Amino acid sequence: MTSRLPSGIYIANANEINAIVEIEQKCFPGKVGYSKRQLEHLILNADSDCLVEKQDGVIRAFLIVTYRQRSLTCNIETIDVDPAFKNRGIGLKLLKAAEIDMKRRGMRWSQLEVSEGNEAALKVYKNAGYTFKERLEGYYKFEHNGTHNAIRMVKEL
Ligand SMILES: CC(C)(COP(=O)(O)OP(=O)(O)OC[C@H]1O[C@@H](n2cnc3c(N)ncnc32)[C@H](O)[C@@H]1OP(=O)(O)O)[C@@H](O)C(=O)NCCC(=O)NCCS
Repeated sequence: MTSRLPSGIYIANANEINAIVEIEQKCFPGKVGYSKRQLEHLILNADSDCLVEKQDGVIRAFLIVTYRQRSLTCNIETIDVDPAFKNRGIGLKLLKAAEIDMKRRGMRWSQLEVSEGNEAALKVYKNAGYTFKERLEGYYKFEHNGTHNAIRMVKEL
């Protein structure tokens, strides 16, 4: 499976969890982000995949996709690029790589929720071909980018 992914993109393994947690905390400080325990569950769970983008052995970004049994729709749980490496196209590259994995698993649609105030993420998703599905008022318990509201976006694979 890994050989079909673009260069620099790999399936995460258990000993990379600390590096992934560090990036999550940089991207979502405080209570907003996933805890180490939640990330461990997502990374080690058979119903989810975590892809990492690495250069010279350094993890610069990760993306987690979850799958549900008997569903042709998968969900992007999160995509985090280390702030030091933002705006270099890594987010878009990871999204495209994740779609290879989704198709391999027979998925037809990819779906995600994003804060309606997260302009950079909205831009990357639009660049990757995702379109507006619905607005989710009060979706987040804690404020993300100054709002509790989210946008659900979808892409046919
Ligand atoms: C969202 C995120 C993953 C994007 O990763 P990235 O590697 O910087 O993305 P790319 O370089 O592929 O693309 C960034 C795009 O956003 C645009 N952008 C960046 N900041 C922006 C802003 N404040 N407003 C509008 N557009 C913005 C860039 O211009 C670029 O678009 P372009 O290629 O059309 O010019 C990254 O910013 C991140 O990790 N953010 C924190 C975590 C997060 O919010 N994740 C999303 C959870 S739903």
